[in-house]
Amino acid sequence: MAKKKIGLIGGGQIGGNLALLAVQKNLGDVVLYDIPAAEGLVKGKALDINQLSAVDGYDSRVLGTTDWKDVAGSDVIIITAGVPRKPGMSREDLLDVNLKIMRDVAGNIKQHAPNAFVINVANPLDAMVFALQKISGLPANMVVGMAGVLDTSRFKCFVAEALNTSIRDVEALVLGGHGDDMVPLVRHSTVGGVPLTQLLPKDKLDAIIDRTRKGGAELVALYKTGSAYFAPAASSIAMAESFLLDRKRVLPAAALLKGEYGISDYFFGVPVQIGAGGVEKIHTVELNEAEKAEIAKSFDSVKKTVESVKL
Ligand code: LMR
Repeated sequence: MAKKKIGLIGGGQIGGNLALLAVQKNLGDVVLYDIPAAEGLVKGKALDINQLSAVDGYDSRVLGTTDWKDVAGSDVIIITAGVPRKPGMSREDLLDVNLKIMRDVAGNIKQHAPNAFVINVANPLDAMVFALQKISGLPANMVVGMAGVLDTSRFKCFVAEALNTSIRDVEALVLGGHGDDMVPLVRHSTVGGVPLTQLLPKDKLDAIIDRTRKGGAELVALYKTGSAYFAPAASSIAMAESFLLDRKRVLPAAALLKGEYGISDYFFGVPVQIGAGGVEKIHTVELNEAEKAEIAKSFDSVKKTVESVKL
């Protein structure tokens, strides 16, 4: 089987971690792209990672480049280009600056890699993935936003910590937009098959929900000059791997909805099956009235941001 090609747009902290994870998992050869001002950064990271290949014994290679032609023909593209927020900022504060960057990125993807499965990580995530799909004109099933995997992973991590139990047995899901109104589905969460609501009292669950919702901001406050990078990279790679290896995993992702959850023509975080066909299925979780109200609130926030996107 021919080696796959993974285009990483943005050579910052997440981009570097993505490149490392992609080659360590032997997913294919990696092209790490950034603008000419960051040439040293992408070439340096590529060289550094390639020099590690003998230690780890993997055969995938990384190319650092500032030329979109090198990205051409990528099977998967992960976009991390854009500006991260600083303490005190909301993700929405990044809309104008990151939209400008997304216009250029989406146009280049359309020109150079129109058949790629594209995963967006840039914020504000749901609005950026909306802009990406509209500008690139790529089929909706080939464009997703990463955040559901990240938010769900944070939720599971905090649950495992609270119970001092293995993360392996935590089953949980976060739906909705990638913002402070995201919806951790406590009622649907289990640990080793035992309902989470039986294992933790309401005040502890509420604290976990709150921490999950503010998970990105907690890291922004700690890092001070940027936002999370390890977990976003791992989350994106899980999605890319499911596509490249046709794993057909069901992962929460921002996908274009066509009436599911009562939402049409917006990207919103829901469980989707990702395989060789991109987003192959969108799953609808049965929700009670309270959960529906939370979804509506989360969607209102996403809609408000998307409505201010000038394409
Ligand atoms: C995250 O959740 O870590 C990212 O969306 C980055 C951020 O600004 O919070």
